[in-house]
Amino acid sequence: MSALPLRLDRAASDPLPVQLAGQIRALILAGTLERGDRLPSSRALAADLGTSRAVAEQAYEQLIAEGWLQGRRGSGTYVGAPPGPIRPRRPRRSSVATDAPLRHLDTGTPWTDPCSTAGWRRAWREVSTATPPRGYDDPRGLPELRVALADRLARTRGLEADPDEIVLTAGTTDALRQLLPELPPGAIAVEDPGYRAAVETVRTFGRRVVDLPAIEPVTDLHGCAAAYVTPAHQHPLGRVMPAADRLTLLDAARASDAVVVEDDYDSEFRYDVAPVPALATLDRERVAYVGTAAKSVIPTLRLGWLVPPSDLLDAVVRRRTITHAGAAWPSQRALLTLLRDGWADKAVRAARRVYAERAPRVAAAMSPHAELAGPLAGMYSTWLLPQADAVRARDAALAAGFRLNLLSSYSRSSGLTGLVIGFGGVTDDELDRALAVISRAL
Ligand SMILES: Cc1ncc(COP(=O)(O)O)c(C=O)c1O
Repeated sequence: MSALPLRLDRAASDPLPVQLAGQIRALILAGTLERGDRLPSSRALAADLGTSRAVAEQAYEQLIAEGWLQGRRGSGTYVGAPPGPIRPRRPRRSSVATDAPLRHLDTGTPWTDPCSTAGWRRAWREVSTATPPRGYDDPRGLPELRVALADRLARTRGLEADPDEIVLTAGTTDALRQLLPELPPGAIAVEDPGYRAAVETVRTFGRRVVDLPAIEPVTDLHGCAAAYVTPAHQHPLGRVMPAADRLTLLDAARASDAVVVEDDYDSEFRYDVAPVPALATLDRERVAYVGTAAKSVIPTLRLGWLVPPSDLLDAVVRRRTITHAGAAWPSQRALLTLLRDGWADKAVRAARRVYAERAPRVAAAMSPHAELAGPLAGMYSTWLLPQADAVRARDAALAAGFRLNLLSSYSRSSGLTGLVIGFGGVTDDELDRALAVISRAL
């Protein structure tokens, strides 16, 4: 035992210098040793501990390198760390175990087939046996996956893109993050009401957001570097952008030399007619097409794809090469299996059947009280209501354990109010219970 409370354990797996350094570090953190305190010489400490001098020297050297101690030539070793005890941070209480198990009737959670686990298992098995690229490889993403996506885009969205024009992203807002630095100066027009994540992302980049009325034709994009739109299923009103409005928007974009960013997040989930072809099919040079695996597969895969106009493609790829802003390889490799095996197509068909059955149930419960904002499609519907009624229904649902969003939370200047009711992330029984509560409140 030295003058300091230090004890070495020769049976422990940690080497003696590591043990000694750890104990001195702990004494400094606890405030037992304070800034300026002089430590015993390595010879004296070694003698106290009954060990070789090299053990004490190594421990001191380590702590000097870490900045806890200072060695002064000829005068010994001193504590150089901040004075006073540094209280270890108390671990924050986890909300996981204590929060009430709220069910989310949100726009973002898709229905997933509980019987589809075999496809996932195959995908992850392949990930575990495949050899990952050793370096940063192709900045656009896994070549085989881009080939599969090119095929899928042509088949399901009418969009002809060369695999080399497709860039894998970590989801929709990641695609936007990659586009924004390549756009000329100017504001970004975003639909109002519109996708909150896009608005946040644009503001994070220091760009001004211009409100584009979501259900009127866009005739003027003067002063805007880009317009962010959801033509297949306006988020969150649900409207499909009519053909004439598409042409008007593209004309306005050409006149102001603005890019149109097409967020094509859930277009595969039409249940009445075939999905409307992508806006990008009308002008590949004007439209940056943004797709996601969030709805057709699962949001936590964090995968999306971007097909930029050709004059932005090189700049996006160049920046990705420098910043390594790619999508994670395991996710890409898993998606490749899910696409190749037809799992993704099957999952979309199965989810479409579920949404086609649930959407009318929501409509039956809501239509006596509220006006539907757009055609029934996708995994949510939006209902126009006075704000006081919407808040009352939202609060009643919350009290019953269901969280849903007010339309006003997507509105910036539109003044539209109502409820946005998602029906993908709950069971049939939960949906019926939530609808009964909302109905009663209204
Ligand atoms: C309008 C819109 N776009 C895109 C997405 C998907 O985003 P991500 O690809 O980042 O998961 C969502 C998800 O809810 C959405 O509502």
